[in-house]
Amino acid sequence: MSFSDPANALGALHAAAAYIRQRSGGFRPDTGIVLGTGLGGLVREVEIAHVLDYADIPHFPLSTVESHAGRLVLGALGGRRVAVLQGRFHYYEGYSMAQVVFPVRVLKLLGVQQLLVSNAAGGLNPDFRLADLMLIDDHLNLLPTNPLVGPNLDELGPRFPDMFAPYDAGLLARAEAAAGALGQAGTTRRGVYAALPGPMLETPAEYRYLRLIGADAVGMSTVPEVIAARHLGLPVLAASVITDLCAPGRLKPVVLADIFAAAAQAEPRLTALLRAVVAGL
Ligand code: HPA
Repeated sequence: MSFSDPANALGALHAAAAYIRQRSGGFRPDTGIVLGTGLGGLVREVEIAHVLDYADIPHFPLSTVESHAGRLVLGALGGRRVAVLQGRFHYYEGYSMAQVVFPVRVLKLLGVQQLLVSNAAGGLNPDFRLADLMLIDDHLNLLPTNPLVGPNLDELGPRFPDMFAPYDAGLLARAEAAAGALGQAGTTRRGVYAALPGPMLETPAEYRYLRLIGADAVGMSTVPEVIAARHLGLPVLAASVITDLCAPGRLKPVVLADIFAAAAQAEPRLTALLRAVVAGL
């Protein structure tokens, strides 16, 4: 990040939040949700109050990935007021880290008190099956940088945020309880998510290395948003949908269509789980 990165300016964050407030009649979300690749279906469960295109929100980056819709959905879900980011920004698209986390910071300015995040990931743990859900309980940031590099935005959070518990134990417990109640215990795992820059998938040697250093799943997102959320003091729940198997012996060439098919298979379970967690907050 350069010192003059406009996405790291408080003024840009406040301008985006002010625009959203004005367009939504002062809607004040309490829960932020980021939906990952092929996982936009939760929006169908939301009683929608307002939809804003990212393109209309000042300073919002624009999604370059077709599978990401690029809309902010405000409404009610399970009795909570949610702000759903349907479409996220990835480092591999060429955005700065400040741009990648810009929407999460804006949600905090709008009032959210917790953040739920989903993604599609490759499974490294040999016990994982296709379309399992993995609740993330820790991460490895293997991206070349992170969103807190550069001048600290003191209004948002501290210079040196603690990362002892990046994923909230209370939310994890709620999610596991909800998975049990929904009959999903057999397909719901827990594990460590490694974030790599992409956009290419990893080589067999890289998958072996990632497993060796403690990763259960690998993807190209989520960690920057989680770092920004922890900087903001927001508790985080994050879940990966295992869209392809990368453990030795399971690895085969991956086509994007397979990733979408697995995401589509898991999506109703993810949607039910997130809905139950939100309803219990
Ligand atoms: N790597 C491997 N498989 C994946 C990824 C990734 O980053 N994302 C989804 N499936």
